[in-house]
Amino acid sequence: METLASERPGEVKKVFVKTYGCQMNVYDSQRMSDALAADGYVATDTPDDADLVLLNTCHIREKAAEKVYSELGRIRRIKADRAKAGQEMVIGVAGCVAQAEGEEIMRRAPAVDIVIGPQTYHRLPEAVRRARAGDRVLETDYALEDKFEHLPHPREVSVRGRGVTAFLTVQEGCDKFCTFCVVPYTRGSEVSRPVAQIVAEAERLAHAGVREITLLGQNVNAWHGEGPDGRQWGLGELLFRLAEIPGIARLRYTTSHPRDMDDGLIAAHRDLDILMPYLHLPIQAGSDRILKAMNRRHTADDYMRLVDRIRAARPDIALSGDFIVGFPGETDEDFEDTLRIVRAVTFVQAFSFKYSPRPGTPGAGMEFHVDEDVKNERLQRLQALLTTQQREFAAELVGKHTNVLLEKAGRAEGQWVGRSPWLMPVILDEKAGEIGDIVDVRIMRTGANSLFAQAI
Ligand code: 5AD
Ligand code: SF4
Repeated sequence: METLASERPGEVKKVFVKTYGCQMNVYDSQRMSDALAADGYVATDTPDDADLVLLNTCHIREKAAEKVYSELGRIRRIKADRAKAGQEMVIGVAGCVAQAEGEEIMRRAPAVDIVIGPQTYHRLPEAVRRARAGDRVLETDYALEDKFEHLPHPREVSVRGRGVTAFLTVQEGCDKFCTFCVVPYTRGSEVSRPVAQIVAEAERLAHAGVREITLLGQNVNAWHGEGPDGRQWGLGELLFRLAEIPGIARLRYTTSHPRDMDDGLIAAHRDLDILMPYLHLPIQAGSDRILKAMNRRHTADDYMRLVDRIRAARPDIALSGDFIVGFPGETDEDFEDTLRIVRAVTFVQAFSFKYSPRPGTPGAGMEFHVDEDVKNERLQRLQALLTTQQREFAAELVGKHTNVLLEKAGRAEGQWVGRSPWLMPVILDEKAGEIGDIVDVRIMRTGANSLFAQAI
């Protein structure tokens, strides 16, 4: 039985963590909180009474990175007010902005005590102790294996508080070097966690009541490792192994690169019922010329053929994607190719962005940057098409049977919220089971971002 720090009077310190960006940051924030809990830190949901404020930042687009400096302005004022009242506050910046702009943060934001990159979170408790002793700490070394080895497994108490679904990082970093992307620079090169570590963490999650695990990696399907049978495993084999853990009822993984969808993984989609029929498989653009300039290493046709193979293995699979409009050199015709591939594939969910030049990436130095107005117009047209596809997918589900994982009470009295196989929330007007149960339902109607269903 773990002791909560709050049960030791006088030792409670409060930490406020604000997370930006991707799911891996969500996972990392939880791991950092777990590591700090050992030093007596408990979470608070406001910076006002925090002894430690941690911003876990995102560098993927310019807007994301800018948010950090404006938030730091606000936090700095709170720190000054606390200082007047004789209270201490340590400010830490973690995540990809920390990795990419560590020195600049130190220079631009003197109130910041700690800058810590994603590969070094296992050193956070030590960094906090040093900051409290008056040091300014910059930790941006690359040592991903160390992080995996030394960060504590999720604490059972905190997992229980977080519900019946969980993330589990199996892979970090990226060796693909798409020309628009900062990830290979901020997260470093690809590192896979060993099978035994992943299985042990999944077992802990299952023991704490988690029913659905989403495996995370910047390039999750590039994961590989030595199996207990001495053979090299790919993500497919790993999924089969995790499916054996008692209590685990659903598996997912994100984000994948089309080049790394191998036969073993497609076989897992065919043979493993608990692998959900939902796949996030970014294509970014539909023009081969632009895909080449992006260094995606696949054509639109390669993607289409891959989707056909995946659908042959798992006919009910729903696809989700990422898109960038206005990459340097993108003409109207290139953009039409993007619309064409979207129509050909059909996506049930999508994330689409205007190209944002990132310092240090090859794309930023390319010729023929696209006007902001043109980017805006293309984004609107693309999003309109994607939204139509999402609505059509939801509308086709009405009247059909499916199952939902019961997650929590809904906002309205008597309502319960579950998660469909396709990630969309499903609202039920009766509990129809316990939290964590998977119940059969019939979809009755669609809402703005959810489905309404009845238990059967
Ligand atoms: N500009 C716009 N979007 C980007 N993405 C990555 N880098 C950029 C950029 N420089 C998008 C891609 C990626 C998603 C996580 O963010 O679509 O898949
Ligand atoms: Fe970025 Fe491309 Fe790697 Fe994805 S595959 S993280 S888009 S470089």
